[in-house]
Amino acid sequence: MMKPAKRVESIDLSGIRKMFDMVGEDSINLALGEPDFDTPSHIREAVKEALDEGFTHYTGNTGIMELREAIAHKLQTDNHINASPESIIVTVGASGALYSSINAIVEEGDDVIIPDPGFVAYDACVKLSGGRSVSAQLKDENDFRMIPEDVLEQVTPRTKAIIMNSPGNPTGAVLEKEDVKGMADIADDHDLILISDEIYDKIIYGKKHYSPAHYSDNVITVNGFSKTYAMTGFRIGYLSIPSKLTEEILKIHQYSVTCTTSISQKAALAALQGPQDSVDQMRDEFQRRRDLVVGRLRDMGIECNQPHGAFYVFPRMDNPEKFVEAALKKDVVLVPGSSFGKYGEGHFRISYATSYEDLQEAMDRLESLNWQNK
Ligand SMILES: Cc1ncc(COP(=O)(O)O)c(C=O)c1O
Repeated sequence: MMKPAKRVESIDLSGIRKMFDMVGEDSINLALGEPDFDTPSHIREAVKEALDEGFTHYTGNTGIMELREAIAHKLQTDNHINASPESIIVTVGASGALYSSINAIVEEGDDVIIPDPGFVAYDACVKLSGGRSVSAQLKDENDFRMIPEDVLEQVTPRTKAIIMNSPGNPTGAVLEKEDVKGMADIADDHDLILISDEIYDKIIYGKKHYSPAHYSDNVITVNGFSKTYAMTGFRIGYLSIPSKLTEEILKIHQYSVTCTTSISQKAALAALQGPQDSVDQMRDEFQRRRDLVVGRLRDMGIECNQPHGAFYVFPRMDNPEKFVEAALKKDVVLVPGSSFGKYGEGHFRISYATSYEDLQEAMDRLESLNWQNK
């Protein structure tokens, strides 16, 4: 009999993907973590040019120099991180950056503290690497921010790394400066590696984004192009790392994917070097949708915090599984909060990366359930 590895068997396929299987023709899918906008045209043009020039071969393992230079420049100017092209690896999405860095640093028996509720890949990557994930609960009353004191309570001699994510999936939470600095201090004081997933750094409303790598050298910064530039299908992201770890992470990256797709690297270069107005336009539209969704849910009597970033709302209710099921019967696809960890229970997630009109229609359908009055 063909037997899979136990550590792989122990992982479930993403609950979000399972929801996709239920999407019908009239469904409005609010389960998707993907901007509905087209990739800006100058980025698509850059791909056509790359193809015409025959830029269709392997590149260096860490990515083309022009792109790593542009990423280093972005990290220096936007995030105040002391990055250099040599500290950067261009990866297959932020997902590839997370996978390679976690696998390079986690050993059998190590603990990794992860945000809970949190992005589904954190727990899975830790388990795939043979480690154990330890939940740091993100609480409603803290607006789902990761609070350094709460994280510190979970640190033990087995702890190898901590993952943080601001702005956060699935809650839309944005960490304050003192939270970020506090996390960097924990990494320094306990000699831990802090993996900071900053994929939503440009999708932020009225708040400022802070990067822990500004405060500490023990940080791996993960980012990508999927969300900011509506480039999910290009599968391109990156990580920036302290030099002592570059080579080790590169081994995982090199022996799993060799390098990132050549033409996606040209697209990413155009994204960073081209006009940024589409980023602002998308951000403004996301904010308009957030206001619609939060307002309508509250009018229905459904409690939810005001998210300050990303494109998710994470409302609470007593029996979210039943609600998600009822919504599905009305052709609105939501995700139960428990898909994001045990502390996600009692919540559900709405992604508002869908057109304003579809969101209005989806809210009408949810309202027709008359849920809070039942
Ligand atoms: C928090 C977070 N990190 C990473 C990713 C993965 O992004 P990419 O498409 O760059 O692999 C996602 C995608 O949903 C995400 O929400």
